[in-house]
Amino acid sequence: MRIKTQGRLAQLVERYPYKVDVGGSIPSTPTINKIPTIPQSISMTKKTGPDPLSVFPLEHDKNLVFLKNIITAPNIFIGDYTYFDDRFADPHRFETYNVLYNYSPDKVKLVMGKFCAIAMDTRFIMTGDHKLDALTTYPFPIFGQGWEEAFDVSEFKVKGDIIIGNDVWFGFGSTVRNGVTIGDGAIIAAGAFVVKDVPPYSIVAGNPARVVKMRFDDISIARLQKIAWWNWPLEKINKNLKLLCSLDLDGLEKANSI
Ligand SMILES: CC(C)(COP(=O)(O)OP(=O)(O)OC[C@H]1O[C@@H](n2cnc3c(N)ncnc32)[C@H](O)[C@@H]1OP(=O)(O)O)[C@@H](O)C(=O)NCCC(=O)NCCS
Repeated sequence: MRIKTQGRLAQLVERYPYKVDVGGSIPSTPTINKIPTIPQSISMTKKTGPDPLSVFPLEHDKNLVFLKNIITAPNIFIGDYTYFDDRFADPHRFETYNVLYNYSPDKVKLVMGKFCAIAMDTRFIMTGDHKLDALTTYPFPIFGQGWEEAFDVSEFKVKGDIIIGNDVWFGFGSTVRNGVTIGDGAIIAAGAFVVKDVPPYSIVAGNPARVVKMRFDDISIARLQKIAWWNWPLEKINKNLKLLCSLDLDGLEKANSI
């Protein structure tokens, strides 16, 4: 059976309790950014695809990086094969240009699964909300020199971590605010500003981002999430590339059970 795409807003999935597996455990007080890599039980040959530990999987293209291999911040966790592609600038600037206001690594994490694709100018807003429960939002204390008495800067609030599933595609210039969870297989349209959770396999667009389409029907989405191909061993992924890039869900399910 081939699964059908589905576009009805009425079938929007409710807020989705979501757990992301980036290929290892995330320490509750993260100190390092080393997430165990998918076990490579076969040697790297041309048929194994790119090395997940390489910074530049395309040797000729220094604008595209496997993100986990360039991250230094203790509160950013990225899964294997997730890439960032900055057409016009050094993608090493990701942590400063694309992850914004990352001032409180102890308060907020950015966790992203495997096989995500991040287009240029995608941004993650980690903190940065001014004080809302006051008559002014002007951040007096940050200037010191007596103004620190206005209030304790620890009162700046963060809505929560940014948790992103696997196989998520971020279109050009999309933005994700802290406190948001994005489900597996979602597509964030170019220019979207995401302030609410994004259901798995939905397409969200606009500002504020809303679901404009579901990619598949509910039952197919549940089946896809059960298969969770991104957690397969690499050999299995390599063997089933054509299936993964088709709409043959029965075939994928069969491959999963082997
Ligand atoms: C999200 C995207 C994949 C949707 O493609 P699609 O499935 O063909 O969607 P459609 O064109 O049928 O659009 C569906 C609806 O979403 C709206 N929509 C699509 N993209 C949108 C966007 N970026 N912003 C706002 N609305 C958008 C359409 O207007 C349409 O609305 P309607 O149902 O009210 O008419 C595509 O529009 C997009 O943003 N791609 C990103 C491309 C990119 O940034 N590439 C960078 C290199 S990787």
